[in-house]
Amino acid sequence: RYRDGSAGDKMNPFAEQEAWEDHQIQKATLKYGSKNKKQISDDYQFVFEDQIEFIKATVVEGDKFDDELATESLDESNAKSALEKLQEDRKTLPIYPYREELLKAINDHQVIIIVGETGSGKTTQIPQYLHEAGYTKHGKVGCTQPRRVAAMSVAARVSQEMGVKLGHEVGYSIRFEDCTSDKTVLKYMTDGMLLREFLGEPDLAGYSVVMVDEAHERTLSTDILFGLVKDIARFRPDLKLLISSATLDAEKFSDYFDSAPIFKIPGRRFPVEIHYTKAPEADYLDAAVVTVLQIHVTQPPGDILIFLTGQEEIETAEEIMRHRTRGLGTKIAELIICPIYANLPTELQAKIFEPTPEGARKVVLATNIAETSLTIDGIKYVIDPGFCKMKSYNPRTGMESLLVTPISKASAMQRAGRSGRTGPGKCFRLYTAYNYLHDLEDNTIPEIQRTNLANVVLTLKSLGIHDLINFDFMDPPPSEALLKALELLFALSALNKLDEIISIAAMLSVGNSIFYRPKDKQVHADNARMNFHTGNVGDHIALLKVYSSWKETNYSTQWCYENYIQVRSMKRARDVRDQLEGLLERVEIELSSNPNDLDAIKKSITSGFFPHSARLQKNGSYKTVKHSQTVHIHPSSGLSQVLPRWVIYHELVLTTKEYMRQVTELKPDWLVEIAPHYYQMKDVEDPGSKKMPRGQGRASSQQLGS
Ligand code: CDP
Ligand code: MG
Repeated sequence: RYRDGSAGDKMNPFAEQEAWEDHQIQKATLKYGSKNKKQISDDYQFVFEDQIEFIKATVVEGDKFDDELATESLDESNAKSALEKLQEDRKTLPIYPYREELLKAINDHQVIIIVGETGSGKTTQIPQYLHEAGYTKHGKVGCTQPRRVAAMSVAARVSQEMGVKLGHEVGYSIRFEDCTSDKTVLKYMTDGMLLREFLGEPDLAGYSVVMVDEAHERTLSTDILFGLVKDIARFRPDLKLLISSATLDAEKFSDYFDSAPIFKIPGRRFPVEIHYTKAPEADYLDAAVVTVLQIHVTQPPGDILIFLTGQEEIETAEEIMRHRTRGLGTKIAELIICPIYANLPTELQAKIFEPTPEGARKVVLATNIAETSLTIDGIKYVIDPGFCKMKSYNPRTGMESLLVTPISKASAMQRAGRSGRTGPGKCFRLYTAYNYLHDLEDNTIPEIQRTNLANVVLTLKSLGIHDLINFDFMDPPPSEALLKALELLFALSALNKLDEIISIAAMLSVGNSIFYRPKDKQVHADNARMNFHTGNVGDHIALLKVYSSWKETNYSTQWCYENYIQVRSMKRARDVRDQLEGLLERVEIELSSNPNDLDAIKKSITSGFFPHSARLQKNGSYKTVKHSQTVHIHPSSGLSQVLPRWVIYHELVLTTKEYMRQVTELKPDWLVEIAPHYYQMKDVEDPGSKKMPRGQGRASSQQLGS
C-alpha cells in the first residue's frame, strides 16, 4: 500500500477554509474568578467574566470508527485467559489489517518508511510480525526509541503479549540497564544505546532488522543513526531497515534513503474539532486555566490534557487551578488535577493512568512528553497554548539556551490528535487561526542543528569517522558549530587523576535535577541546599559534598528526602560514576584522593573548563573572558550573592537572562598556567588599568594575580 503522501492534508484544518463557522462555547451560567489572577480572593463569585471566545475551525476528519471493535462485553473477556485476550486485542489495532502487505513490502525492499499515527501499533506489533515471519532466525530485531521510559514500557508490553518473561525473548537496553539475554530476539533500546553498539559491532552483524522508531522526533542520536544505518545498508544487503514515524512528513525520509517506499497505516482516528481564540492571549497560562474551567462547566464528560512548557509552569497552573476551584464545593463536579513531567517522582507519574471516577473529570498538565511518547486514555479535550521549551545553541558564544518557543504546525497537529484517540475530541488552541497559519513553522528544527556538537564529534570520531564535514547528515549541522566542537576537544588535552573529580563529573552529568524544590517548601529546600555551600566553596565542590555525604549515609534514600535531594538523580550519578571509574581502570589510570585540597580540585576543573571563565563587572554582572559576553550567576548557585571576582562556569544558559550555571571561584593566574595556549597575561589583566591615568586603576595586574 504505497501512497504519494499527499493524503496527509486531511489533517490540515485549512484545507476547507470556507467551512469555517463561527462558534462560541455556550455561555456559562456560572461566573468565576477575577480578571487579575494575582488578587484571587477566597470568596470570589463563580463568574465567567474573563471567558475566552473561541472560533471553531474545520473538523479534522477521522477514519470511520468501527463500533463493534470497542464493545466487547465484560463477562466475555473475563472468561478468556489474559494471554488470549491480549492476542485478540492485537487484532483490533489499526496496523493489523495491513500485516501481510507490510511483510511483503519488507520482503521486497531493503528500506521502508512507515508512517502511522500514535497508537496504531507500529512499535509493539511490527517487531512481533517480523518474529512470526521468521526474521529472528538469523539475527535480532532491534527497535530504537528516543526515550528510556518508552523503551522499557514497550518491551514490557510486548513480552506480555508474547507470554514470555521480560529479558528473555523480548528485552530492552538503556544506559546502565541491560535487560536482555542470549535468548533475546526482540530488542528495544534507546537510540543512544544502538549508537554505542556500533562501537563494538560496526556492521551490526547481530541484527537482521533495525527499526528506527519515532524518527520524527529527530533527536541527536537518531539523526546520527540515520547516517550510519544508511551506510551499512549498502554493504549488508541482507539487513532490513525500517524508519517509522508518527507524522506525515515521510517524503523527506524517503528522499534521504534513496527514494525508499512509504508504507502508510491509516489511523483509526476520530474527528477532532479545532477551536482558535478570537484574539491573541496575553497570558497563556491564565488563559489555559480559564479554558479548563470553561470546559469543565460547559462540556460533556471527558478528560482534559493541557500542554505546558515545564515543571514550574505546571506547578503554577496547578496552584491557580486549585485556588479557583477551592470553596466551590459541590457547585462543580470534582476536578482531578494530575501533573506529568520528566522529573516527577515515578509513583506520582502513575496517577495519570488511573481511570477517572464516575462524575469526576481529570485534567492532565503535561509537558511535550504527552505529545507522542505517552498515551493517556480518556482524553477528550486538548488545550494547546502553542509553546514548548526548546534548546538552542549559539556556536559563536558557546551559549546554550532553553527558551519558551512557539511550537511547529506538526506539533500542533500532533497535540490536537491526542483528543481523538478514543472518541471524537476537541482541541482548544490558545492562539488565533492567523497565528497558526502565518507564524508557526511547518516542522520543529532537528536537535542536531541547535545543540553543542562536542559529543557528536567525539562519537563519530570514536567510530572512525573523521571527515565530519562530509558525513551524510539528513540535515547537516551548522559548520561553525562543528568547528567550535573540534576546537573545544583539542583544547581539552588535560587529564587528571583525582578521585573527587569523577564524582563531580558524574554529578554534573545528571544535569540540574539534583535538588528538589517543591513550590510549597521552597524555603526549607533552599536552606537544605545552602548547607552544602558553607564557606562559599562554589557549586562544583558543593556537588561533591552532596555526593560524599550521601555515600557516607550508605546511599540512604531517607537522607535524600531530608535534604530535598532527588534520589533518582543521585542513583543515576552513582551509575555514571561507576561507569567512569570502570573506564579509568580499563586504561589503567589509578585514582588518588585528596578531598581537603580544594584548590587542587578547582584547578582540575579549570583544566577541563578553562574556556568558560568570566570576570566580575562593576555592576555585579560578569563578562566572559574570551568573548566579552555579559552573563550572570544563576540564582540557584551558592555564589549568586557572593559574586567572586573571577569564576569558571559549567554551562551558559539563556532563560530569562544569560546565566552561568554551576559556578566556582577561580584564581586568574591559573588560566595562564593551565592553558597558556589559550590565555595570555593580557587576557587576565584589568583592561581598563592601562588606559586610566596612574593611580586610578582599580586593580593592578599584580593584585589580580596574587
Ligand atoms: O507505536 P505506535 O504509537 O503506533 O503504537 P504502539 O506503541 O505499538 O501501541 C499500540 C497499542 O498498544 C496502544 O494503543 C496501547 O493500547 C497498547 N500499548 C499498551 O497498552 N502499553 C504500552 N506500553 C504500549 C502500547
Ligand atoms: Mg510507537
